[in-house]
Amino acid sequence: MKKINVGIIGFGTIGAGVVKALKARRRFLADKSGVDINIVRICDKDLKTRRPVNVPKKLLTKLIGKVLYDPSIDVVVELMGGLRPAKDIALEALRNGKHFVTANKALLSDSGREIFELAHKLGLCVGFEASVGGGIPIIRAIKEGFVADHIDLVYGIVNGTSNFILTKMAEEGLGFGDALRIAQSKGYAENDPSLDISGGDSAHKLSILALLGFGIEAKPKNIYTEGMTHIEACDIEYANEMGYAIKLLAIAKRSGRALELRVHPTLIPGKHLLSGVNDVYNAIFVKGDLIGDNLFYGKGAGAAPTSSAVVSDIVSIAKTISRGCCKVEKCVAFKKDIDRQKSIDEIRTRYYIRFSAIDKPGVLTKISGILAKYGISIAHVTQKQRKSQKVVPIIMMTHEALEKDMTKALKEIDVLSVMKKKSVRIRVEG
Ligand SMILES: NC(=O)c1ccc[n+]([C@@H]2O[C@H](COP(=O)([O-])OP(=O)(O)OC[C@H]3O[C@@H](n4cnc5c(N)ncnc54)[C@H](OP(=O)(O)O)[C@@H]3O)[C@@H](O)[C@H]2O)c1
Repeated sequence: MKKINVGIIGFGTIGAGVVKALKARRRFLADKSGVDINIVRICDKDLKTRRPVNVPKKLLTKLIGKVLYDPSIDVVVELMGGLRPAKDIALEALRNGKHFVTANKALLSDSGREIFELAHKLGLCVGFEASVGGGIPIIRAIKEGFVADHIDLVYGIVNGTSNFILTKMAEEGLGFGDALRIAQSKGYAENDPSLDISGGDSAHKLSILALLGFGIEAKPKNIYTEGMTHIEACDIEYANEMGYAIKLLAIAKRSGRALELRVHPTLIPGKHLLSGVNDVYNAIFVKGDLIGDNLFYGKGAGAAPTSSAVVSDIVSIAKTISRGCCKVEKCVAFKKDIDRQKSIDEIRTRYYIRFSAIDKPGVLTKISGILAKYGISIAHVTQKQRKSQKVVPIIMMTHEALEKDMTKALKEIDVLSVMKKKSVRIRVEG
């Protein structure tokens, strides 16, 4: 049986999960794949911390070069995270003739194209299944399963922490801060949760999905990203009364030869498949011109599901090597069917808006007058009970409107003397 040697850099949560799975399932994987996967080196800065798996001391090293320049290693697996030195490791591993596997979304959203192009030039593989949706096999599905399709739409709930917080707010009527504290106490949110709640982590993943599904390179800084800290429990309650759920969605939507990419809290109809995706679960909804609607659902993080995805990449590459393929498939086909990325100002959508206004005759007329000036028509309006003294929430659903017009209208409305707080705008999909 062909033996494939693997070197792992990063022996943290996922690194230890991968080592554990490869060690415990070596025979099982060999029986299934016909290849024997052998760990020859594990590198980490910290060799003192006890890991959930025991390994012979001789495998461990602090020196990255012991992995990159070991001629016996076929596959380098980067599980340390961050941009540097992860990018140098990726490029150097490839230049040294090694196939490369990573779970690092920050790295791929920043430098994916450069890494994929170098790998292709050198006839090497890059596996990155774990970089989006943890254990959900969305990368392989888009790359291989949907190869015949033009992808029209991707909606992703790709951040478990923010989904958990929104679920807690919806189910228990909690405020954002209390729901975040529960997520932290359960280990679902970091001490510094900013990347999750700001939508930044979802933007990294959307950038990878955009490259894969649409062949367009969009760095996270060029993706419109809005976090969820302005959402209040009452928004979830009002949305619910109208038959909607609120989810933090990563959206890639084709219109003709242009593509919308955006991350923001979104109202989705209660009957949409994504509205029932709760807690820390992830789901990715993909619509293709041949396959129609598809939903992928599963655990988007954690040592076990993520290491399942990393191991699947290692096995797939090991099989390619054992077949003696000298020319490997492209990691990503840079298609030419998208010409440009739309700016957020250009999108057209429906809106939920919550105004906090003084309870006084004529307020609604003022608001609707400004909306009408910008061609925005109201589909539905409800004036709620006073929340605090004299301040009343007014909830509006609009028909489709241009984002640019909505921004201008809200800017005018928010400075009216009757408005007590900045309005809350949530876009509607589905
Ligand atoms: N955790 C998840 O559920 C999950 C899910 C999907 C994808 N991922 C991705 O998987 C990757 C690893 O995440 P993780 O949660 O396993 O992180 P982690 O627990 O922090 O593990 C990373 C390990 O790499 C080590 N390391 C950092 N820089 C190093 C260097 N220059 N040389 C050698 N070792 C170094 C760290 O050591 P120190 O601790 O001493 O810094 C740590 O032991 C990240 O790209 C992450 O985005 C994680």
